[in-house]
Amino acid sequence: MEIPHIPVLLEEVLASFKDVPEGYFVDCTLGYAGHSSEMLKRYSLLKHIGIDRDDEALVFSKERLLPFAERSRLYKGTFATQLPLLTEAPIVALLADFGVSSLQLDKKERGFSFLSQTLDMRMDATASLSAYDVVNSYTQEQLAYIFDAYGEVRSYKKLAAAVIEERALSPIESAKALSEIAKKVIPFGGKIHPATLMFQAIRIEVNNELGEIEGLLDAIEAKHYAGEVVSLITFHSLEDRLVKNRFKKWATACICDPQAMRCTCGKNHALGKALVRKPVTATKEELKMNPRSRSAKLRSFRFKNDSH
Ligand SMILES: C[S@@+](CC[C@H](N)C(=O)[O-])C[C@H]1O[C@@H](n2cnc3c(N)ncnc32)[C@H](O)[C@@H]1O
Repeated sequence: MEIPHIPVLLEEVLASFKDVPEGYFVDCTLGYAGHSSEMLKRYSLLKHIGIDRDDEALVFSKERLLPFAERSRLYKGTFATQLPLLTEAPIVALLADFGVSSLQLDKKERGFSFLSQTLDMRMDATASLSAYDVVNSYTQEQLAYIFDAYGEVRSYKKLAAAVIEERALSPIESAKALSEIAKKVIPFGGKIHPATLMFQAIRIEVNNELGEIEGLLDAIEAKHYAGEVVSLITFHSLEDRLVKNRFKKWATACICDPQAMRCTCGKNHALGKALVRKPVTATKEELKMNPRSRSAKLRSFRFKNDSH
């Protein structure tokens, strides 16, 4: 079986779960089961739940995880909607490795790469909104907003205007045509392709990626189990900020109004603590072997044993 995706920060992820008690391990972004299969090998007492919104990934992983079939269940859907529905308990370990898989990026017909002849970018090929819809039907203001908020594109207004101008001639049908527009507007200065941030922005919009992360953090907060370890891997600053801020909130003991003269809450409201102060990043060896690990950041949080 050829494995289409190399799991990032694998040893670091496995290590983050080394002290968890017996129970369920939830992999919210199953992908090609790189992390899940190693977790199942290393921790023989853990039962496994895998979630993904991509049918192709689920079909592949079901086969890859056949040796562990008795300990593993897979669910299709987004993690923000699936996690609150799980009845399995206790959940003692939870992983999310956000973003897209290498296979999604590399398969031209999925429309994520600059050279694709399609304009799709849906992680779930049955979802209703595609990149084609965003690019060809959003207003100039909406496009400018997503290029700015989700891509942090410096010339977001110019880029939105260029898309509108181009699509007035004829609909923009492919990722390739879209990347040509970016090349005209954004100078090819540094190491990254001018279309990179624009594609990131559209992908985030199409898949509601930031809303999904917020939803996942809300679901964890509502449901957290005593002693549970949550490990989350982010790939850009917008994702990392959401995780960092939520972990900070969970670790805060005092919930009094910051304007209050003195603390009246008892200062015992921390739900647990972050396992590491700074996020874990890839070693030089991993970077050499898998350049896609270069922006990966792993943060882990352990809920207190008496947190409910
Ligand atoms: C980076 S890959 C995970 C790779 C996996 N850790 C492995 O080792 O094979 C991310 C996966 O998460 C899925 N995904 C991303 N956002 C999701 C969401 N909100 N809900 C469910 N699955 C999601 C994608 O479809 C993709 O298969």
